[in-house]
Amino acid sequence: MTLAESIPSEIVNDPTSFRSLVIILNLLVLLGLTIWVFRTHFRTTRKPPNLTPNYDDDILETSRLEKVLGWALLSSAIIAVALPLYWLREPGRQSAAQEGFDERSVERGAILFAAEGGEDFDANLSLACANCHGGDGSGGNATTVIANPDPVCEPPEGGEVDFDANPECRPSQVSWSAPPLDTVFLRYPDQSPENRTGREQIKQIIVFGRPGTPMPAWGTDYGGITSTGAKNDQAIEDLLNYIESIQISPEDAQARATTQFDDLRGTATPEELAQREEAVAEARATRDALPADAPEETVAEATDAVTNAINQLKEIQSTPQQAVTDAEIAVEEAEAQLAAAETLDEVEASELALESAERQLENAQAWVDRVEIASDGELLFELNCARCHTDGWSYFNPLDPDAAPLPGPQGGGGFGPNLREGSVARQFPNPALHLEFVRTGSTYQVPYGVAGIGTGRMPGFAQMLTEEQIDAIVDYERNL
Ligand code: HEC
Ligand code: HEC
Repeated sequence: MTLAESIPSEIVNDPTSFRSLVIILNLLVLLGLTIWVFRTHFRTTRKPPNLTPNYDDDILETSRLEKVLGWALLSSAIIAVALPLYWLREPGRQSAAQEGFDERSVERGAILFAAEGGEDFDANLSLACANCHGGDGSGGNATTVIANPDPVCEPPEGGEVDFDANPECRPSQVSWSAPPLDTVFLRYPDQSPENRTGREQIKQIIVFGRPGTPMPAWGTDYGGITSTGAKNDQAIEDLLNYIESIQISPEDAQARATTQFDDLRGTATPEELAQREEAVAEARATRDALPADAPEETVAEATDAVTNAINQLKEIQSTPQQAVTDAEIAVEEAEAQLAAAETLDEVEASELALESAERQLENAQAWVDRVEIASDGELLFELNCARCHTDGWSYFNPLDPDAAPLPGPQGGGGFGPNLREGSVARQFPNPALHLEFVRTGSTYQVPYGVAGIGTGRMPGFAQMLTEEQIDAIVDYERNL
């Protein structure tokens, strides 16, 4: 930074800071000196110095001498005070500079992370991580197209797949879930503050992306290895600093995991559910019993009562149960539409709507049934582990299972290894070590289990899940 650049920006940004005051003071002194030089040296009436009489000896040895000595003393005193002061301030100044540096890095990271519509978005700089990972980094989805992995769908040598003959081989558009990043530093914990293995792992993911998933590569290189991304090390560090700055606490992360589990499992008792279902049925019966010539207001009231009762039911239902309720309403509406249809086109359209609503209901009901018989460990595995250990889980939609190829067997391997057919029990004959591994995750080149060598890619869940949740998952895994 040149002097000309630094002076105005410092004063403009923070006019009352110590530095600004010193700079302003210096500028004033400089100005005063310049004026003084001009006035004394360029005065036309001024006598030449050799003709100007100097002070006589009396003055030179008394008041003049005292004045000079006085000024000398004063300057020494100022230096004597200023030097220690400067020295005392220095560590604070240095750490403030470091903090300012970190703050600016986080700000740059926020801009890189932002997507259109976000507060920090900059059309020239932003990489739009937020588009997939959520504006606040709490997770989201990426729409992407996948090919059917079935060997039947592999293009023949030198040719292309005949999609007309094999319609099931058409690539499908899916919604691939992108994990939350406001907990990623909890999942990839550092070995120690000096040995930031977790941060390195996250950096590697950002630099190289996750091949085979929508997560692109962003960095140009990692420790000398070239990647296909476009961002230099400084930008990747800025992103890491920003992501680290938005991490939530382990307590909040565990509360989030518990809420996700509760939403899937449902927390209401069968009695509570039955009670609210009955309220819905009653509201419906009241509405349906209204005579055809009932006043509009009465009809509206009765309809509102049904909506209210349904909302109250959904409030305590699990997500799959809510899907059933929604599908039931869709079926009912389609049936009413069909009954009221007059033209052939209307009949056809409402028949299609009814068919689709019935399929929706079937899928939702199948989801409810599956969740009902699943153990807690299985549901927790689905929510926290399956995206890496079950092929295709990241885009599986239980409400639309035909949208894409079905996921592989649960725990059958994906980005992470196969955990089925006793392979975990062989890797960890001792359940306590299995538990410990899930709690801490793997570390690059550190052996684990009987024959495992860590790559650092397996996250640790000690801060993400409660003890009981990890116990339940491990129990489930050992019996896969
Ligand atoms: C096109 C969507 C998309 C964009 C844009 C994107 N990501 Fe991702 N990201 C994903 C998906 C999907 C995954 C999960 C991949 C998987 O299933 O293993 C992921 C995974 C990650 C992970 C690993 C998290 C974990 O626990 O597995 C990190 C870290 C990450 N992304 C950071 C970033 C950063 C930083 C940016 C911006 C520079 C970014 N992502 C931009 C889709 C995206
Ligand atoms: C981000 C992806 C990812 C997630 C999420 C994940 N794992 Fe893993 N897991 C891996 C990888 C990769 C390995 C292989 C070890 C390595 O590369 O260091 C692994 C290895 C394992 C192993 C050892 C398997 C063996 O035979 O070597 C177990 C057990 C395991 N994971 C359990 C879990 C459990 C339980 C969860 C959820 C609580 C989970 N994983 C979530 C990626 C993941």
